[in-house]
Amino acid sequence: MTRYEQLAETLARQIHSGAWGPGTRIPGTRELSRLHRASITTVMAAQRLLEGWGLVEARPRSGYYVRGAALPLEAPALPEAVATPGAPTLVQSQRMALTLIQATQRRDVLPLGAAVPDVTFLPVAALNRALGAAARLAGDRAGGYDFPPGCPELRGQIARRMALAGCDTGPEGIITTSGAQEALTLALRAVAEPGDVIAIETPTYYGLLQVIEALGMRALEVPTDPLAGLDPEALAQALARWPIKACVVVSNFSNPLGCALSSERKRALVTLCAKAQIPLVENDIYGELGFADQRPLAAKHFDRHGNVLYLSSFSKTLEPGLRVGWIAPGRHFDRVAHLKYVSSLATPTVPQLAVARYLEQGGYERQLRRARAAYARHVELMSAAVQGHFPVGTRISRPTGGFVIWVELPEGADSMALYEQALSERITIAPGPLFSATGRYRHCLRLTCAQPWGAASEQGIATLGRLARQQLEVG
Ligand SMILES: Cc1ncc(COP(=O)(O)O)c(C=O)c1O
Repeated sequence: MTRYEQLAETLARQIHSGAWGPGTRIPGTRELSRLHRASITTVMAAQRLLEGWGLVEARPRSGYYVRGAALPLEAPALPEAVATPGAPTLVQSQRMALTLIQATQRRDVLPLGAAVPDVTFLPVAALNRALGAAARLAGDRAGGYDFPPGCPELRGQIARRMALAGCDTGPEGIITTSGAQEALTLALRAVAEPGDVIAIETPTYYGLLQVIEALGMRALEVPTDPLAGLDPEALAQALARWPIKACVVVSNFSNPLGCALSSERKRALVTLCAKAQIPLVENDIYGELGFADQRPLAAKHFDRHGNVLYLSSFSKTLEPGLRVGWIAPGRHFDRVAHLKYVSSLATPTVPQLAVARYLEQGGYERQLRRARAAYARHVELMSAAVQGHFPVGTRISRPTGGFVIWVELPEGADSMALYEQALSERITIAPGPLFSATGRYRHCLRLTCAQPWGAASEQGIATLGRLARQQLEVG
């Protein structure tokens, strides 16, 4: 990044954090030059960049002033929730997800489309050391299968993490998996058959929709409040009407809404599922990434009958490429262990040993604290930029953890077209219909905030805003 981009970024951050209110003059060229020890040319280039981002406007012979829309004085409105449960439906049109993920991996794009943290947020060096040590020290074991339930050292460490979420599963209740994605597949295969109805949040993580589609099951979208999460009453209504076989929920900091269920909702959900005798699949992959100090409880904490299949992974907190996840399937343990064996025989040994070693060494809490603070800040910066650059009437989720935001454009916008237009400007986004079994959310999109914040991000959001405005003008 050049010096003037750095300066523009610093000033943008100050504007977003409220250092100068809308309509206020920012310090003049000479003053900025003195304050930031930058040349007049650098300051002028930075001012022009800020103007290009729509953050300030030049007033003749007076200087640069903060534009009204640039500052999030009021929190933007929340996205609208679906009002009533849908009908069961086969999931379609998830093919595009792989294309999106592949586009997101291109080195020349601004990857706002995938929920993958940039490596700068991850403890890569420490994990590389742990991987090296695991391969060296494990000797023959490193090259052999680690059959289900998987690596005992790792299950011991995971049991400790789960205890912090209020679950007393113990190592013996845990099966390691190749990420949360495999755990999700195993959970659904263990408790339902093709054609069965699975109750899900809406909008929901598209990887879940892909599993439901691949297994030939049907999805039923249950109204989900953007702040409070899946509504247990709406689930009760759906249960009374449809032969639901299982319910899947991201209990803490869901993807894409970023909301967490309160303890009351978790308890209500667990009780409701137990009464209806349907298993609850709890995906807690973002549970350790809340913005508050206290880690929230898992829904499994309230489970008295082994009815909750809890799953998670280290993909969001350590590295997704390790492919280390787990499932604590309660009373479905034997079936899940068998299915895991049939599906991939074992989870790779060295990554499991490396994660166990990393967790033993005690740097994880510090890493989590750093990541949580960074994600909270980046969500704030991204939301402010969206509010500043996107069309009037845009709604934005208010995550309390994780690192994605859900953006609802005014009706008439088309996020599938926006995806293509953005890609030609080398930006990826995740278009709304991917998050629905029924093609809802055409005017919505998800953006990931776990990217280093800088001139490119601000510029990228400005470009997306311009494209969205153009769509609405043409429409
Ligand atoms: C809610 C949710 N579940 C599961 C996954 C997949 O996790 P993993 O990489 O551990 O398979 C993701 C990744 O985006 C996710 O957001």
